[in-house]
Amino acid sequence: MDIYSIKAQLDADIQAIASLQALEDFRLKYLGRKGIVAELTGLIPTLPKEERGKFGQEANALKGRINELIAEKQRALSGGQDTKVSGASGNDIFMPGIAQELGHIHPLTQVIDEICAIFTQLGFSIVEGPEIETEFNNFTGLNIPLDHPSRDAFDTFYLKDYSKLLLRSHTSPVQIRAMKSRKPPLAIVVPGRVYRPDAVDASHSFMFHQIEGFIVDTDIKFSDLKGVLETFAKAVFGNDIKMRFRPHFFPFTEPSAEVDISCIICKGKGCSVCGRKGWLEVLGSGMIHPNVFRHVGIDPKKYTGFAFGMGVERIAMLKYGINDIRLFFENDLRFLRQF
Ligand code: DAH
Repeated sequence: MDIYSIKAQLDADIQAIASLQALEDFRLKYLGRKGIVAELTGLIPTLPKEERGKFGQEANALKGRINELIAEKQRALSGGQDTKVSGASGNDIFMPGIAQELGHIHPLTQVIDEICAIFTQLGFSIVEGPEIETEFNNFTGLNIPLDHPSRDAFDTFYLKDYSKLLLRSHTSPVQIRAMKSRKPPLAIVVPGRVYRPDAVDASHSFMFHQIEGFIVDTDIKFSDLKGVLETFAKAVFGNDIKMRFRPHFFPFTEPSAEVDISCIICKGKGCSVCGRKGWLEVLGSGMIHPNVFRHVGIDPKKYTGFAFGMGVERIAMLKYGINDIRLFFENDLRFLRQF
């Protein structure tokens, strides 16, 4: 066996190594109990006496060189870290792990939480209701007449085969549920998802979120409604905003009003966001209609109450200056990470 041809073979072998497993095979081939170096040293007794010393030195030098090459290769294969890695498993225990990204709360949920917290501080309880509702709770109980357009199939998702069930078109039916199952005094807010078969565009979605609120007690007046809603609007949009109550019609309240806040962009001067009006509509409200009380068995001569309902997406869009409702539902992390 010729040490010089072994050295040449050694260099070719080490260059071809690309894994820790191959490196271990290499080590066994040269340094193993029956490896090439062992074979060389086994030859020593067979040599003439005067050659043995030199041959032994060269074999030792070769062994040292092989050890160096193995250490170098091991460093290169384990990303520059000087370490002993189990060659048998071939696993690189120093490979960086796969990072888990932390999630965070969706902007709509953040706005819902913020609004509910404001009302909870005012003494309201949070109540939720089902997204599949009865026609009675969604319409009849709320004094919405049979010929009202919102009952039409174009405006409501009815469940096939269950003609009396539908996807609720607003959170108001939870008024009916809560008034039936609890006794006044009541102060309740209802966050939740609602559905309408609207074509999707920058300001419409077939699914969106609302927050309903209402109070029932023996001496509730319109001024209570004004006070509560003003506290709410200032907490969300800042103390400098102005409010106005515009007469409106809702079947379940009488009198009814739509509530506007002074435009948070132009401060009431008129801009493109408020359509040059200086005002932004934020919610609907009114004094609970006596017919609603009759439907749930509350005496309208003894009790009065107010109710209001707002769209969460609309509030979030105004608060953050978002111009397209679809952004909330596309799960684009470039948008969501901003909140
Ligand atoms: N339910 C109404 C809607 O979806 C919103 C609303 C208006 C709720 C006035 C109320 C209210 O409680 O008093 O358009």
